[in-house]
Amino acid sequence: MRKKELTIKVCEYDAVEELPESDQKLLQAAREASKNAYAPYSKFCVGAALLLENGEVITGSNQENADFTDGLCAERVALFYANSTYPDQAVKAIAVTAQNSHGFLELPAQPCGSCRQVMVETEVRYNEPIRIIMDGRKYIQVFEGADNLLPFAFKPGDLE
Ligand code: THU
Repeated sequence: MRKKELTIKVCEYDAVEELPESDQKLLQAAREASKNAYAPYSKFCVGAALLLENGEVITGSNQENADFTDGLCAERVALFYANSTYPDQAVKAIAVTAQNSHGFLELPAQPCGSCRQVMVETEVRYNEPIRIIMDGRKYIQVFEGADNLLPFAFKPGDLE
């Protein structure tokens, strides 16, 4: 028997101004993108913004459907668009934010498990960790790499 303990590394910032400027810009882009959410069913509006290797910023918002399972999260809208439009560009960072009926979330907006899985695959695809910035009014969390969000992840190499 082996007993292990994992360490999750996270940096928490109490104000957006404390973040590096490029993170602040990415968060702002995510907040803008959340306004484009199509979320008539959940009324939960999520925005995501990606920073690509070439400096380009790609945004996405959640898009819902009357057939509920057909909707897609903001993070995957942005990631799949970026990866399909700029297949040679690594994703350096992603900022995520969300609003409910009370406004932007108090606690950091946490990506769902499926979006974490897609982040892991994107890291493997480009061999580059993604900086993940989660927006909250109380504080903002920053993670260096999706391993901190999804340890023991299923990875493309497992198929071989
Ligand atoms: N949603 C996202 O866009 N990202 C997440 O990581 C969590 C959930 C969306 C999906 C759905 O449109 C709404 O939020 C409520 O679950």
